[in-house]
Amino acid sequence: MKFKPANKIQDLQYFGEFGGVNPSISDSSTYTFLSAKTMFDTFEGNADGCYLYSRHSSPTNLYLGEALAALEGTETATVTASGMGAITPVLLQLCDSSEHIVSSRTIYGGTYAFLKNFAPRLGISTSFVDITKLDIVEAAITPKTKVLYCESVSNPLLEIADIKSLAELAKKHNLKLVVDNTFSPLSISPAVLGADVVIHSLTKFINGSSDTVGGVVCGTQEFIDQLRNVNDGAAMLLGSTMDSLRSASVLKNLRTLHIRMQQHSHNAMYLAEKFENDGLKTVYPGLASHPSHHLFSSMMNEKYGFGGMLTIDVGSLEKANELMELMQERNLGYLAVSLGFYKTLFSAPGSSTSSEIPEDEQKEMGLSDGLIRFSIGLDADIKRTYQMMKDCMIELDILKPELV
Ligand SMILES: Cc1ncc(COP(=O)(O)O)c(C=O)c1O
Repeated sequence: MKFKPANKIQDLQYFGEFGGVNPSISDSSTYTFLSAKTMFDTFEGNADGCYLYSRHSSPTNLYLGEALAALEGTETATVTASGMGAITPVLLQLCDSSEHIVSSRTIYGGTYAFLKNFAPRLGISTSFVDITKLDIVEAAITPKTKVLYCESVSNPLLEIADIKSLAELAKKHNLKLVVDNTFSPLSISPAVLGADVVIHSLTKFINGSSDTVGGVVCGTQEFIDQLRNVNDGAAMLLGSTMDSLRSASVLKNLRTLHIRMQQHSHNAMYLAEKFENDGLKTVYPGLASHPSHHLFSSMMNEKYGFGGMLTIDVGSLEKANELMELMQERNLGYLAVSLGFYKTLFSAPGSSTSSEIPEDEQKEMGLSDGLIRFSIGLDADIKRTYQMMKDCMIELDILKPELV
């Protein structure tokens, strides 16, 4: 049976306290108990439906968590104050000192920096590998390895992880497969393909309005309970809890995710085809020239396309900067990091979101100076946008004017 995540979200029915069509917001940090015994039971984790303290859980966060678990097809989920606030507790929950992680080498710069520079302070080491080469991934696994970590669609190189095969590898070696699905909500459902834990930075497509940071961990009830355990749960103890007011607003934005993803994908596909046709080095999983186009097609849910992210290479950082400044001046989007906004966002990852990765390693993984990462917006008239972008490129000598 085909997995239809948007239907799962559509089918959730929450009523507010007074019959409102949106659930009421629980604007409290702490909760009362009618008896001291129930408070004790709640601390012990034995009083379902009772709330203790909002760093642990709150009704509003549970509503959003439930909706995101429906999106990813997991038993449950817990929301966090940011994407990094989801990633770091998961890895610290799964790994003890002296243990090891095998991670894709093309991941968000902050995650890379955490694994490379911070986790070793706690005795956790990481091998960074080319995630598209399963033999290399397997060869990096040691008896100390606990986690296999990747992004479904990697930031910024848009490499695609073969989640089914990685899940088999994880099972074979008794590891947990943790997948960051930030770039491909709805399109790819990692848990359905075998991942143990799915993470999102809600900051991006899921919230979609670039007005907050947020994160989520989707997984089994057992794992999420572990993360929230009052004695040794990394989410509970590190305290990266989302605020209830924010949770409520993210939930409202989630309702339109399926429409937005269709438009992001439609626009990105249009531009990618045009740019490639114009002779620009273009990377987009929807293009037949993408090395993992067929893999993406084999994993994707119907309707949501290949996502809103694409890259082009304009040869040098100088050209990339000139183009981005000109496109911003012409109101084609913003020179800004992040993704998933209604307007197109563009940045040169080598000097921004991936600057944590040393230059020699950037070169080795194919992250060139002239690379521009685009998060394509919801533009109503993408043909007009394309023409205006092309005009910028001709003006800067990145493209030659067409001979007529
Ligand atoms: C793929 C990916 N994962 C995680 C993060 C971190 O999320 P946040 O900025 O919400 O902490 C980002 C942020 O850019 C990202 O692109």
